Amino acid sequence: MPLTSPWRADFPALAILESQGQTYLDSAATSQKPQALIDALTGYYTCGTANVHRAQHHPGERATRAFEDSRIKVARWLNAACPTEIIFTRGATEALNLLAYGLEHLITAGDEIVVSALEHHANLLPWQQLAKRRAAKLVVLPLDERGIIDLEAAASLIGPRTRLLAVSQLSNVLGAWQPLAELLPLAKAQGALSVVDGSQGVVHGRHDLQALDCDFYVLSSHKLYGPEGVGALYGRGESLLKLKHWQFGGEMVRVADFQHADFHAAPLGFEAGTPPIGGVIGLGATLDYLSRLDANSIDRHELALHSALRIGLAEREGLRLLGDPQLALVSFTVDDIHHGDLAHLLTEQGIAIRSGTHCAQPLMKSLGVEGAIRVSLGLYNDGVDLQRFFEALDQALEMLR
Ligand SMILES: Cc1ncc(COP(=O)(O)O)c(C=O)c1O
Repeated sequence: MPLTSPWRADFPALAILESQGQTYLDSAATSQKPQALIDALTGYYTCGTANVHRAQHHPGERATRAFEDSRIKVARWLNAACPTEIIFTRGATEALNLLAYGLEHLITAGDEIVVSALEHHANLLPWQQLAKRRAAKLVVLPLDERGIIDLEAAASLIGPRTRLLAVSQLSNVLGAWQPLAELLPLAKAQGALSVVDGSQGVVHGRHDLQALDCDFYVLSSHKLYGPEGVGALYGRGESLLKLKHWQFGGEMVRVADFQHADFHAAPLGFEAGTPPIGGVIGLGATLDYLSRLDANSIDRHELALHSALRIGLAEREGLRLLGDPQLALVSFTVDDIHHGDLAHLLTEQGIAIRSGTHCAQPLMKSLGVEGAIRVSLGLYNDGVDLQRFFEALDQALEMLR
């Protein structure tokens, strides 16, 4: 079956990159953008910008309406119960820091915050630092050999002192879906809150946060084919009530005098200052575009592409895959070859992949590797991209051996 992507032409940058001899296989870091987003941004910036939630003039009303429409679109995309459960942030990292500060008052000395061994620094360091501030303990769930959180170990490590569980949906290094349906109830049974880092997961398949039953979920727009500088934090209605305000300034306050202030509830109370208005509107347009595509066809395409990538890598001698990747990306090392040297030669041949520790240094250490090459896929990649990658890989390996 030829691996063609019917959506490739919707992403104009790919043709330009191709004309420059570049093959883009780094979508887990950030994705290329659809024409629908570019059109929406052009429309917004050419029709007159205005700040949101404050101006009574017509451009202000128009910007506010478009901004709030995006909130509805994100809520719909995640199947949140209500748009007010969506807080716009500047990315997944900011959303996780918001949570680590907003929930700090619930953590006392000796409490336990549980993360997994595969977390991106963005879903590790905010909790590590929170644990330090509150003299709490950071508990790390181990993985099995496939790179999946070990549920038996989790059942024994999540206990009465657990106040919070923060785990990824899909690993940015191992490409493995995590067993959230089994894991989250373990936290809930102990009265602990759950935070899901959906940065990688949200890009693949369709998601239903009401069914997932997490307290909080974070995403970054730029990985989901949307603009940079925008993220979203979902919080279940009653879980949002537990959050303390963390950034202070304009528009998040109801009344203020020199000594006191009274703040808005979520979402506005957590969106201090001027938000990334164009970006939020662009994210809405991106979700409109994605909603028009056939989700089953995308799933089939992404699986076929991933399987071809895995098979091709398995055919090459001396390559070691990290874990048992299921979708979206594959990370690997090569016996006796430094990942940096290989990445250098791939880059020279126009292959855009990532090498290093992928913002997951503790995971790399526990896997016993210094770093790895990561190839990651978007819905626009095709068989030609893979062919170019494998040709470049073979050439690089030949040179290095
Ligand atoms: C799993 C995971 N979590 C969090 C992040 C942080 O996302 P951002 O840098 O967009 O805030 C990333 C980015 O690579 C990621 O892969």
